[in-house]
Amino acid sequence: MFVWMVDLEEDIRSLQLDSAEDINGVVNPEDEKPDVDKMDEGLLSGSDPKQEVQAQSVEAEPKAKVKEILSVQDEEDEQMKKRHLNVVFIGHVDAGKSTTGGQILFLSGQVDDRTIQKYEKEAKDKSRESWYMAYIMDTNEEERVKGKTVEVGRAHFETDTTRFTILDAPGHKSYVPNMISGASQADIGVLVISARKGEFETGYERGGQTREHVQLAKTLGVTKLLVVVNKMDDPTVNWSKERYDEIESKMIPFLKQSGYNVKKDVSFLPISGLMGLNIKTRLDKSLCSWWDGPCLFESLDSIEVPMGDPKSPFRMPIIDKFKDMGTVVMGKVESGTIRDGDSLLIMPNKDHVKVVAIYIDENRVTLAGPGENLRVRLSGVEEEDILSGFVLSSAANPISTVTEFVAQLQILELLDNAIFTAGYKAVLHVHSVVEECEIVELLQQIDPKTRKPIKKKVLFVKNGAIVLCRVQVNNVICVEKFSDFPQLGRFTLRTEGKTVAVGKITAL
Ligand code: GTP
Ligand code: MG
Repeated sequence: MFVWMVDLEEDIRSLQLDSAEDINGVVNPEDEKPDVDKMDEGLLSGSDPKQEVQAQSVEAEPKAKVKEILSVQDEEDEQMKKRHLNVVFIGHVDAGKSTTGGQILFLSGQVDDRTIQKYEKEAKDKSRESWYMAYIMDTNEEERVKGKTVEVGRAHFETDTTRFTILDAPGHKSYVPNMISGASQADIGVLVISARKGEFETGYERGGQTREHVQLAKTLGVTKLLVVVNKMDDPTVNWSKERYDEIESKMIPFLKQSGYNVKKDVSFLPISGLMGLNIKTRLDKSLCSWWDGPCLFESLDSIEVPMGDPKSPFRMPIIDKFKDMGTVVMGKVESGTIRDGDSLLIMPNKDHVKVVAIYIDENRVTLAGPGENLRVRLSGVEEEDILSGFVLSSAANPISTVTEFVAQLQILELLDNAIFTAGYKAVLHVHSVVEECEIVELLQQIDPKTRKPIKKKVLFVKNGAIVLCRVQVNNVICVEKFSDFPQLGRFTLRTEGKTVAVGKITAL
């Protein structure tokens, strides 16, 4: 069993689902100018409850942060502008993702003391005293009562060089689909690990979400990972170098097996999310004499990530939509550039739309490029006619639409060690699409060791196999070949709450 696991992990790596090689150039496709136009209040209120944090912090702290607007004529100066990165917080349940995310917002001045006191009281009333920092990210009642994130929380903060969007994923295994959606929007991942006695072990076990999240993150295109060893303040840890080293030394081989180049793409650091230590400023030597490395903000600042191409055809998968003086869609730009006044298509329905306004956070901008999370107000389409999974797309070169495609699949772990054959049904997750699918034909098996096709006709495969197959969906979906747009051509197959396979689309 163990041997199989190692093989499997190697296979995930070799499945080459990392996009870095396919995309060139770091691009910050905007430039900024002082603000003229603030995002309408209605736009915020019509959005998901997770935006509350930001809405609140804007109110709570009217500090005249200079709002900036992009302009087309300043496009040449775009390299000067602060870059934007989406960071997904992943890791086992209760590792401290929301607490750390909340602490980051507090330390970067997004949340004031009064709000913290309010959360302390609310957490105490719910007998969840230690969760008050997590309440900054966990905004709905169910999350606060149970102390568990359900939906991906979103918030924004800035360091000297970068504007970050935090995507706080749930750790509980029931909510892996939400984690997948968060990770598929992310450029980098912060893997939060609890150093508390027993907690690292549970997360790292087979079936623990430390493992599942790392493998999914890699599959979903999160090319860089920051591993934060959290809860270093806990009495069972007490900033122990031995514990930190133990966790690091156990994680490194696993990260390698999952496809990460640990030297290039991964860094480790100790923190206490709850106490806010080694987050915005470096650790005090009197507390932790052995750590000479950077704090979390420094580490985040120094990560370099290749971005999508601003000159390629425009693609923005829609993750949400609402009505606000027209139709507003939300999503992350995966490729190309969008400008005010652009005529675009909403695929797969081919609805012709015009871009009325573009917003990044609460700021109105006139253009935006790859990696940006946007709200785009459109004319020419009704909100009811849009579903999440649709793609706002260049009109001249729209995204492909299919009901069938060919993919290279890596089988991870089938339920009850079932066999995988034509007729197998699962749920397909590709960018913001979630759709039932059926494997209609196995075309060719690939030898996981040699990577060469196996000549013999293939009728079924088992765990660990790599197989080329035809996949069918009931409704038309928007996807691309992995080689053309990696982020729009990589996917996972899940069934009954488990990830059974990962794959990349090889032909449409
Ligand atoms: P899910 O959203 O359910 O996956 O959990 P999470 O990873 O977001 O964990 P959360 O932030 O909700 O924290 C879980 C518990 O761990 C809470 O009781 C926190 O107070 C505690 N915790 C988080 N960070 C630290 C830390 O640095 N030190 C200590 N001692 N406890 C922490
Ligand atoms: Mg959480």
